[in-house]
Amino acid sequence: MANSRKAPNCVMVIFGASGDLAHRKLIPALYNLAVDGLLPTGFAVIGFGRKPMTDDVFRSEMKAGVAEFSRSKPINEDVWTAFSTQLHYQQGSYDDHASFDALNDRLKVIDAAHETAGNRLYYLSTPPEAYALITERIGTSSLVQNQPPAAWSRVVIEKPFGHDLQSARDLNEHVHKFFREEQIYRIDHYLGKETVQNILVFRFANGIFEPIWDRRYIDHIQITVAENIGIENRGNYYETSGVVRDIVQNHLLQVLALIAMEPPAEFNADDVRNEKLKVLKALHLDRNNANGLVRGQYGPGKVGGVVVNGYVQEAGVAPDSTTETYLAMKLNVDNWRWAGVPFYIRSGKRLSRRVTEIAIQFRMPPRMLFSEATRHEIEPNVLVMTIQPDEGISLKFGAKRPGSGEQVQPVVMNFNYGESFNIPAPDAYERLILDCVLGDSTLFTRADEVEAAWQLISPIVEGWKAGANSFIEQYRSGSAGPKGSDDMIQQDGRKWRAL
Ligand code: BG6
Repeated sequence: MANSRKAPNCVMVIFGASGDLAHRKLIPALYNLAVDGLLPTGFAVIGFGRKPMTDDVFRSEMKAGVAEFSRSKPINEDVWTAFSTQLHYQQGSYDDHASFDALNDRLKVIDAAHETAGNRLYYLSTPPEAYALITERIGTSSLVQNQPPAAWSRVVIEKPFGHDLQSARDLNEHVHKFFREEQIYRIDHYLGKETVQNILVFRFANGIFEPIWDRRYIDHIQITVAENIGIENRGNYYETSGVVRDIVQNHLLQVLALIAMEPPAEFNADDVRNEKLKVLKALHLDRNNANGLVRGQYGPGKVGGVVVNGYVQEAGVAPDSTTETYLAMKLNVDNWRWAGVPFYIRSGKRLSRRVTEIAIQFRMPPRMLFSEATRHEIEPNVLVMTIQPDEGISLKFGAKRPGSGEQVQPVVMNFNYGESFNIPAPDAYERLILDCVLGDSTLFTRADEVEAAWQLISPIVEGWKAGANSFIEQYRSGSAGPKGSDDMIQQDGRKWRAL
């Protein structure tokens, strides 16, 4: 992971620079790295896109993005003035060889002007359909520096990586023609979140949790990624994705892998990802439960007091769309540590509130000492890791209520990030871009991990296409999701944590 090593000089080429991601996330992240003095001394950005634009127009568009989306506000004008001289724009088309030759010429000029040592980070922030073409153009236009230690070239690829197992395999095979695996950074921004990284610190920097982190002590695990926003203006994209490809195949399964993995031999990219891979390979839909999967789609309703449309009324969505905006599944990790411990996962849009959390519910004590009446008051211990918002960790346990009786009341011990550290957390993209520059791929998804995640998801989505388990229940916007999801977990005598 990124450490105090100094970031080497380099140029970052952003494909799709006039798009939303550059505007909202990438440039604000780079600006904040500049504020914190973490960018290399020789650094430059070339935005590459179809839209004609001068450097000055690009800079002022990016400044508007930083003003709106930067985590640190207001803009520090001195930092911005210096940073903006590092921003350049190159108009071009992805299918045109001449555009890439022109990019190559421009890179040479910028390498010299900013002393970037020929090191290049190519960031693909385009629609996924363009990934294959762009990597090929980069690879065939002598833009890849393949001669370490002289200079390096790396490519960063946004999700979704493939839309099913076969397309992910094809894309991996294609990209490998031009880049070695260690040059490829498949980004999953959840892995850049402080609280997601803290899962490993919590588990492996403490001695008391790991011994009870298994089937002997844990009853079940719930992972929730709930959003209150809808699909915003991304109807066309979301129609082809659904929550299964937008959140579950990547963010959610990555979090699950971190929760369930074995301790790696060393804390490095290979060892950490080897252990995550084993979890992904051991993951199956619960075979004993025909109802272990529930799909939902949001209907009209009210979120935060505001009346909102149903999914099929959103722009870019077919009126008879069968795309799911909610998915709950019961998964098993079929290995020695987790056999028999269900992992209930759920994610949805337009739910009552935004929360991402992991709840580890422990088994009840093996023998009850207290009276019949008291027993009913005893609840299982639950460890909750809140990824966002209100980042923190809490542990619920039973305490004796003061008084002459023997009444038990659940109480909660809380750790809150904000209160304990009182320093703003960097945005996930700051951490991840810096790791790419430093050449640390621990927090990026390896080819085999992506394929293992698709191995689970692909048969499910293919089944839906063929009509298996394809029922979609409508849920009211602003609610906790479809009733079928509650039924699914209640069948096992358990219930979801309240949203
Ligand atoms: C993105 C999805 O990857 O993650 C969005 O495409 C989703 O649909 C977003 O809203 C959630 O990210 P975060 O960081 O807000 O939890």
